[in-house]
Amino acid sequence: MNRLQGKSALITGAARGIGRAFAEAYVREGATVAIGDIDVARAEQTAQAIGPAAHAVAMDVTDHASIEAAVRTVEEHAGGIDILVNNAAVFDLAPVTEVTRDSFERLTAINVAGVLFTMQAVARSMIAANRRGKIINMASQAGRRGEALVTVYCATKAAVISLTQSAGLYLIRHGINVNAIAPGVVEGEHWDGVDALFARYEDRPPGEKKRLVGEAVPYGRMGRAEDLTGMAVFLASAESDYVVAQTYNVDGGNWMS
Ligand SMILES: NC(=O)c1ccc[n+]([C@@H]2O[C@H](COP(=O)([O-])OP(=O)(O)OC[C@H]3O[C@@H](n4cnc5c(N)ncnc54)[C@H](O)[C@@H]3O)[C@@H](O)[C@H]2O)c1
Repeated sequence: MNRLQGKSALITGAARGIGRAFAEAYVREGATVAIGDIDVARAEQTAQAIGPAAHAVAMDVTDHASIEAAVRTVEEHAGGIDILVNNAAVFDLAPVTEVTRDSFERLTAINVAGVLFTMQAVARSMIAANRRGKIINMASQAGRRGEALVTVYCATKAAVISLTQSAGLYLIRHGINVNAIAPGVVEGEHWDGVDALFARYEDRPPGEKKRLVGEAVPYGRMGRAEDLTGMAVFLASAESDYVVAQTYNVDGGNWMS
């Protein structure tokens, strides 16, 4: 407990799902948390449910001005930023023969450019304030290898792993640790959407893909957002000071590297 006492965190896409679970865990550990999300109404509901240590911040990670405004808001609210979790992302499904430019541009704008430029804005804020900091990027097992129907999403998550390495190697000279978490398959609204897409592409009944991927996890079930919070707290805390530019699999044994 209290491993993040007095720290200020910004978590993108924290209105729901994994980001919300991280916000709850960080608050339990003593941090104040900005719930940055494009879904402002839901971010406000989430912040209210978590309590006074959480506050909602309107934020579209594809929009440079919105990123800058969110960073300024958190600086004014909490005096600076110690922890950033780049968590906002979207999914789409299509084999290489069917990928549309719209889908490619939407996924890369949110999942790659969003991560890069939010990381840039927060790193600049940390450096200017001479604050050591922690940046955690959400990658995925999808970034470890391609999948026949997941062409663009897999590529965006491979890019997150690479950005984590380059940014991590540069920013450690400023005392900023950049690392990533690669979850496997995690229950929630995100995977409900993934299941619906697979049902259409693979002509399956709804729920079947989800059941099959859960059964295939060596641990024996799909992940839950709470399964990831231990790693998220560790990477945000002083316990990970010597951990630099790494991507950790937290996936019940799906992937090894
Ligand atoms: N759920 C899984 O199985 C799984 C597996 C591996 C990796 N991940 C990764 O973990 C992270 C969280 O996943 P999740 O399951 O909680 O997803 P989710 O879809 O439940 O939540 C994503 C959040 O991001 C927000 N968002 C979308 N576009 C945005 C934008 N432009 N600006 C700001 N916010 C925006 C959404 O409003 C939503 O609140 C993502 O990076 C995802 O790729 C998830």
